[in-house]
Amino acid sequence: MSSKLIAPSILAADFGNLQRDIEMVNNSEADWFHIDIMDGVFVPNISFGMPVLKAIAKHADKTIDVHLMIVDPDRYIKVFAELGSNILTVHYEACTHLHRTLQAIKAEGMKVGVALNPHTSINVLEDTINDIDLVCVMSVNPGFGGQSFIENTYDKVIQLKELIAIKGASTLIEIDGGVTNENAKALVDAGADVLVTGSYVFKSDNQAETIKELRALANSN
Ligand code: DX5
Ligand code: ZN
Repeated sequence: MSSKLIAPSILAADFGNLQRDIEMVNNSEADWFHIDIMDGVFVPNISFGMPVLKAIAKHADKTIDVHLMIVDPDRYIKVFAELGSNILTVHYEACTHLHRTLQAIKAEGMKVGVALNPHTSINVLEDTINDIDLVCVMSVNPGFGGQSFIENTYDKVIQLKELIAIKGASTLIEIDGGVTNENAKALVDAGADVLVTGSYVFKSDNQAETIKELRALANSN
């Protein structure tokens, strides 16, 4: 069984001390950087854009997992590849021609992810799951950090795990929103492979230690 991964969300970092927080993640047991890009249209909030991602990528020495919460993401696929994204995740709800978008992301040499809002059924991925490297199951409504976890997520993870098995796909399951030490183990037991964690890590007193504990929980049997 491969290790379960922890992806701290930089949205919850201290932007006045961004380099310090990036180094903390570099030196911690975290596996990926999770980067939330919001456009104020697809979600009711604006986070940060390309210049900030460029600065993050300059210092980050782990996989960069970019979560686009923007309409018409096709416009920026090339730019995100050039900025150093290793995984580019688009929202199912933001893509009219999802299959085409997935191919365009792969053509730029990135792994491709699809995020599903809490109201979106797993079934919508039946015809594309074999083309997807990662499904990001939103466990909060996207737009803000620090929200509480939606319990229905467990059922979705179980359904998704089943779909992946039936189709013989090798897609990873990522959970995004409200992850803490209280639900990490149960999420992994349900089938999660990657846990995004924002405020739980960055608001803790010893961030690297919190990442370490979360990773241990996620990998305990
Ligand atoms: C929400 C973002 C999440 C968020 C997670 O729209 O996609 O990645 O940063 O933050 P927490 O862990 O605080 O819910
Ligand atoms: Zn996210």
